[in-house]
Formats: sequence, C-alpha cells, structure tokens
Amino acid sequence: MRVLGIETSCDETAAAIVDGRRVLSDVVSSQVEFHRPYGGVVPEIASRHHLENLVPVLGECFRRAGLSPADLEGVAVTRGPGLIGALLVGVTAAKAIALSHDLPLAGVHHIEAHLYSVTLEHEIAFPHLALVASGGHTELYLVPAPRRYRRLARTRDDAAGEAYDKVGKLLGLGYPAGPRVDRLLQGYDGPAIPFPLPRMRDGSLDFSFSGLKTAALRMVESGRVRPLQDGEDPAAAPGLLEALHGFQEAVVDQLLDRATRALEGARPAPAGVVLCGGVSANSRLRARAAEHFGARGVPVWVPSAGLSTDNAAMVAALGEAMLRAGERDGLEICAEASIPLGEEGEGTA
Ligand code: KG4
Ligand code: ZN
Repeated sequence: MRVLGIETSCDETAAAIVDGRRVLSDVVSSQVEFHRPYGGVVPEIASRHHLENLVPVLGECFRRAGLSPADLEGVAVTRGPGLIGALLVGVTAAKAIALSHDLPLAGVHHIEAHLYSVTLEHEIAFPHLALVASGGHTELYLVPAPRRYRRLARTRDDAAGEAYDKVGKLLGLGYPAGPRVDRLLQGYDGPAIPFPLPRMRDGSLDFSFSGLKTAALRMVESGRVRPLQDGEDPAAAPGLLEALHGFQEAVVDQLLDRATRALEGARPAPAGVVLCGGVSANSRLRARAAEHFGARGVPVWVPSAGLSTDNAAMVAALGEAMLRAGERDGLEICAEASIPLGEEGEGTA
C-alpha cells in the first residue's frame, strides 16, 4: 500500500511516503537551530514551527515521490507519546488529508515506530530483544512476534539521549550534544575519567542515567574538568575529552549490560538484538554492540543513521502494516502526550 506518514512529536517536522517496505520519499525539517539558544526543546516554539513547516514539508514529500494525494491508499500519523501541542499539528493535518481524500487513517505509537524502523532495512527474526534509546525514552522490550511487545526495563530518571544532552550542555557543547559528543570522540584514543555504572538494588533491569550528570557536575566543580569555551579547541580544555570519553563509555556500558542480562534471562533465546531511537545513531554504541553481541553469535539490527533519529518513514511503514492488517482509526483519534506500549513482564516469551 502507498501510505503517507507524518511525524511531529518533538522538534522534527517530517513526512514520508512508503509503498510497502519501499521508501518513496522521506523529508525531515529540523527545528534544532530555533531551540538551541534555550538549550533544549521549547514546546510552544516546536508547535509554532510545525504549523509553519508542515505544509511545505508535505509539498516537498509529494514532489520527491512524484505523487499527489490522489495516489495515496492511506495516511499514518504519530499520535503520541510526545509534546501535546506538537503532536496536535500532525494529527490534525493527517485527519484533514484522510477526510478530504477519503483515505483510511492509522494513529501510530512513536516508540513502536522506532522499534518498527529496522524492518525497513533488515529481515529481523523473532523473538528478539529491542532497545530503544532516544531523547525522551530508554526502554528494553522483548518482541516475541511482530508487533507484540513486553517491556522488560525502562529508565527510572533521564533517558540516554537526555543524559548526552545534559552532560554536553554542562560541558559547553550546546544543544543537542549527542551527535557532537559522538563526532568529537571519533578520533580520540586517550584516557577516560571513569563514570558510575548504576545497578538496581532490586535486581531489576531498569536504567538510570541521572547519576552521570551529577558526576560530570562534580568534575566541573572540583576543577578537574573545564567546560568548552566559545571558539576553543576541545582538545585544549583541561579534562574535557577524558570526561566525555568516560561518560560515553558509561552510557554504552549500561545499555549493553542491561541488554546482555535480558538476553541471558530470556527463554526461548532471542534471535537477535534491535537498537533504535536517536542514540542508536551513535557510532561507539553501534561498534561496541556489534562486537559484544557478535562475539556471542547474536545478530544486531540497527537502522541507518537517518532512520535512527525522528523521521516519518518509520511512521508510514508502521501505519502501512496496521492498515494492511485492517487496523484503522476513526477521525475521533486524539494526540496523547503519553501512551503505554506492550505489557510489563519478565524475560520469557
Ligand atoms: O529519536 P530522537 O531523534 O528523538 C526522540 O524521540 O527523542 O532522539 C534524539 C536524541 C537526542 O537526545 C540526541 O542528542 C540523541 O538522540 N542523539 C545522539 C546521536 N544522535 C542523536 N546521541 C548520541 N550519539 C549520536 N550520534
Ligand atoms: Zn523519537
């Protein structure tokens, strides 16, 4: 089916058209420059920019695909979780297109779309483990069959991407810091200042990243690490690269620790591990996960960088699967700031 997808849950205005698993066009307009002065996403600014950008983004999406709305067979939209005002813009536009062109509508769960994004590029097997790590979420799922999810762990405080952004901000790297930290460390092979690896006392697989921010703050307060100043070479700031390296290794250590423990506890044995969400674009996480799970004979499936961060191709792809399965929503669907996904449970499928 030819399905249009719309994504406006945070600060990317995105539209894409898929035909089955083929991506015909995929347009993302980032608002990051408007949020940068504030050091994070400002919800009101996000909504306003979605409102201004969505029509041009849709126009570009149809132009690149060489299609018009009359060629579509369905419309999919992220209905949550996310920023409510931002979501509303996409949901309202999707309803208008569905109504005016008499098309079936699918309201998509943003995290499920991230989990589904890997299917556009990989043949994945079941059951598998899936780790979604983004700016708003860090969760581990057991996926026993297509579109069935059992949540094994979540973060108890910050998300992994949020930790990158907060620690990066503290160390003078601006917003969003994740991609910059990744780039800065790519050629670095010097020492690392160690950061803590938290373990839950109750043995749960839950994540916790807020301690990394506190550790970084202490390093700055004690004078061991100096934040980057405007125009300065990062290698010249005392302790900066050592701290960033230690921080990044601690994030990756924690993600791999939880995923490995989940893998060892799950019966039947998962056929592989999916990494998705913005942080899965991280080159160090990709390399270490491939090496770590590869050594155990477990395949790792990761979307390409453009499909890791927020995009509408994953929304269109999941919507296409939903519509093909006869799951369609009425025009009464609403944007929702938080929606649960899957059941809570242990690691057995
Ligand atoms: O999935 P996403 O685009 O949006 C949300 O749904 O949150 O994820 C954005 C997050 C940001 O925190 C950003 O800093 C982080 O993903 N991120 C990265 C990288 N690219 C994006 N973190 C580390 N390394 C990267 N290469
Ligand atoms: Zn996302």
